[in-house]
Amino acid sequence: MTSESLDDRLIGEASSSPAGPIDREDGSRLPEPPVIQVPRALQVLRFNQRQIEFVFRARRELGEVFRTRGVVPDGPVITSHPDHVKSLFTAKPEQAPSLTGESPLRPIVGPNSVLTAIGPRHMRQRKLLLPPFHGEAIERYAEMIAGAAAREIDRWPVGTPFALAPRMQAITLDVIMAGIFGIEGRPRRGTPERALRTVIRYLLALSTWPPAQLAELMNLGRDEPVGLTRAGLSILDRRTYALISKRRREAGVADRRDILSLLLHARTEDGEALTDRELRDELLTLVLAGHETTANSLAWTWERLVRTPAAYDRLREAVRSDTEVGEHIEAVITEGMRSRPVIPIIGRRVTVPWRLGPYAVPPDTPVAMSILLLHHREDVYPQPFAFRPERWLGRKPGTYEWIPFGGGIRRCLGAALAMAEQRVVLEAMVRQLDLEAEQPEPEHAVHRNVTMIPSRGARVIVRARRA
Ligand code: HEM
Repeated sequence: MTSESLDDRLIGEASSSPAGPIDREDGSRLPEPPVIQVPRALQVLRFNQRQIEFVFRARRELGEVFRTRGVVPDGPVITSHPDHVKSLFTAKPEQAPSLTGESPLRPIVGPNSVLTAIGPRHMRQRKLLLPPFHGEAIERYAEMIAGAAAREIDRWPVGTPFALAPRMQAITLDVIMAGIFGIEGRPRRGTPERALRTVIRYLLALSTWPPAQLAELMNLGRDEPVGLTRAGLSILDRRTYALISKRRREAGVADRRDILSLLLHARTEDGEALTDRELRDELLTLVLAGHETTANSLAWTWERLVRTPAAYDRLREAVRSDTEVGEHIEAVITEGMRSRPVIPIIGRRVTVPWRLGPYAVPPDTPVAMSILLLHHREDVYPQPFAFRPERWLGRKPGTYEWIPFGGGIRRCLGAALAMAEQRVVLEAMVRQLDLEAEQPEPEHAVHRNVTMIPSRGARVIVRARRA
């Protein structure tokens, strides 16, 4: 390849690196990955507050694979090579179970939901939940998403700055309530639907309140919630069970398309139905996993777009002239999720010795994949820090190079829904609004639980509104 074409490249390839399970003897011949030599407490603090600086610095100083101390109790090894990612995504389930079983959501959704279970239990729940999340099933939601977006966008002021993230969250919550519970718009007073919608909105708002976030920390590592979380959840549970019981009694459930109604009819291979507790755990998992992630992903894409005039102009031109709209929208979303993955790191626990390039890790080691580092590899994404949606025109993202939804048997169940929501909302906003950043400086990332969100909530000003 000439240097000219190298400079023009928008997507490249990493040179290969051996990875995967190895036998004990081979494992003992290879060195273990280098360890970050910073006191444990400081590592935890830096990882939680400034993960970007933390992982980029470690990679600069120690190389592609390194081990942390204390970030989760036994300190994961962190890697960001596509071949290492592939080895973990395609591993036998028992050799690399997911670390989400140890997630902060565990005390809230319990140890048996599709997110927190591992092994055969996980596969069973996943099979039951897959059909309603399938691409074709999701296409039917496009109109409902467009309605939720239009109701919200119509209310935004012209000329007064506001944060996009909470507005995106209002849309994604409406979509979740409709898609999961079949609750569209504002249900009648006194119905279980209205009661549930109110308590979910209230608890989600409360969860961003700093004392409530501290209270959440008390739950880490537990199976059952304590304190404030427990009090909030018991109200939520009563209302969820009331709705489940109403739907069980209702005629015509078979004709409803919401996920709760579909799950009421779902049967495992042995013909078993889900119990109320299982239904509650899965429904809550979907609400919690599904709406803040999607909302912040959209907020980040806008945070980038309003600071990259060339990309914004190109998208606006394509959408407003109805030229290859789908391709341009997809490219912008893909680049948004590459440069600002809302979930910056995911992990597996290897149960056998595992090779990661020049190193080997012993059995029972947590191995994390830094989505942030992988998405900013210079060999795969030339000019990784530039926001260049044109990388993706006419090209699909690589399974092990672009992983904002994770991968393998733990790949995000809601990926098709999240993509549909982002497409519909982004297109509606581009068509109707001219947006500008409130301040030219980029927003930095703050970390909340497992997510990475824009520090000011992606603040913008609507400069003009089109009919
Ligand atoms: C842009 C939005 C979203 C992002 C970036 C995202 C990202 C992720 C990631 C990184 C994982 C872990 C994958 C792994 O470990 O390999 C995950 C799992 C999951 N997500 Fe999402 N997600 C999004 C939206 C949604 C939505 C809308 C739903 C459902 C309504 C959802 C439901 C789930 C569930 C149930 C799991 C657990 C799957 C399993 O363990 O089998 N997510 N998501």
